[in-house]
Amino acid sequence: MSQRLVTSSDDSRIELCPAEISPQRLPAHVAVIMDGNGRWAQSRGLPRVMGHRAGVEALKATLRRCSNWGVKALTAYAFSTENWSRPGDEVNFLMTLFERVLERELQALEAERVRIRFLGDLEPLPARLQSLIQEATKRTASNDGIHFNVCTNYGGRHELVLAARRLAERAASGELDPSEIDEQTLAGELFTAGEIDPDLLIRTSGEHRISNFLLWQLAYAEIHVTDVLWPDFDREALVRAFLDYQSRTRRFGGLVV
Ligand code: IPE
Ligand code: IPE
Ligand code: MG
Repeated sequence: MSQRLVTSSDDSRIELCPAEISPQRLPAHVAVIMDGNGRWAQSRGLPRVMGHRAGVEALKATLRRCSNWGVKALTAYAFSTENWSRPGDEVNFLMTLFERVLERELQALEAERVRIRFLGDLEPLPARLQSLIQEATKRTASNDGIHFNVCTNYGGRHELVLAARRLAERAASGELDPSEIDEQTLAGELFTAGEIDPDLLIRTSGEHRISNFLLWQLAYAEIHVTDVLWPDFDREALVRAFLDYQSRTRRFGGLVV
């Protein structure tokens, strides 16, 4: 599996796949529920939003590690359809944070050949964020590096509703015969169309739930739950998740011979 070196002062940019991880059995697609930012901040006597800021650093380091170690796709849950129910100040902080990070990081993402996409219903996002998303998607679309999917205003149920609606429209217009709808047709209408399903789901902050994340796509993902709060998710935590993954026997409903 290819390993690329990118140079920078940040040491997460230059490490190769750790010796204890088998490069032949890396998860090709890693999904992560980045939870625990608020608790991380509160435990330090800081406002919750400082946890979101720290969470961005953990995400940047995780992306670079995954890219350098040979992972093909990283899908991160940044904002759920349910997160709008939080206080307005926190939601506004998050939207502004997404904008700032995109502006600041786009050049580095391009240089590192990352292909970024935003999965979710993007229309309700602030106009400025939408245009930054459009620009970042366009500018990195032909990059041949890691696929970096940021789930923003994403909800697994909403995604399935939109897919059902789209299939119904196609059927009503005569373009699609309902009896021909199969798993592939449905998967092709999801935000993740064209991406392989995640092999590994990392769930931080100790909660044993998937919180409306990738309900369809996680059907056979291996699940790693860690008590680590997202801003503390470092190299060691990622190594532990990969070792846990590599200790599993995947059966996909069949038998292991
Ligand atoms: C995850 O951290 C980030 C988002 C959901 C946007 P939280 O903000 O949910 O942190 P906790 O769960 O309250 O600690
Ligand atoms: C999951 O975190 C959503 C994101 C990480 C964006 P939440 O904090 O929203 O999840 P619950 O409420 O603990 O299930
Ligand atoms: Mg939370």
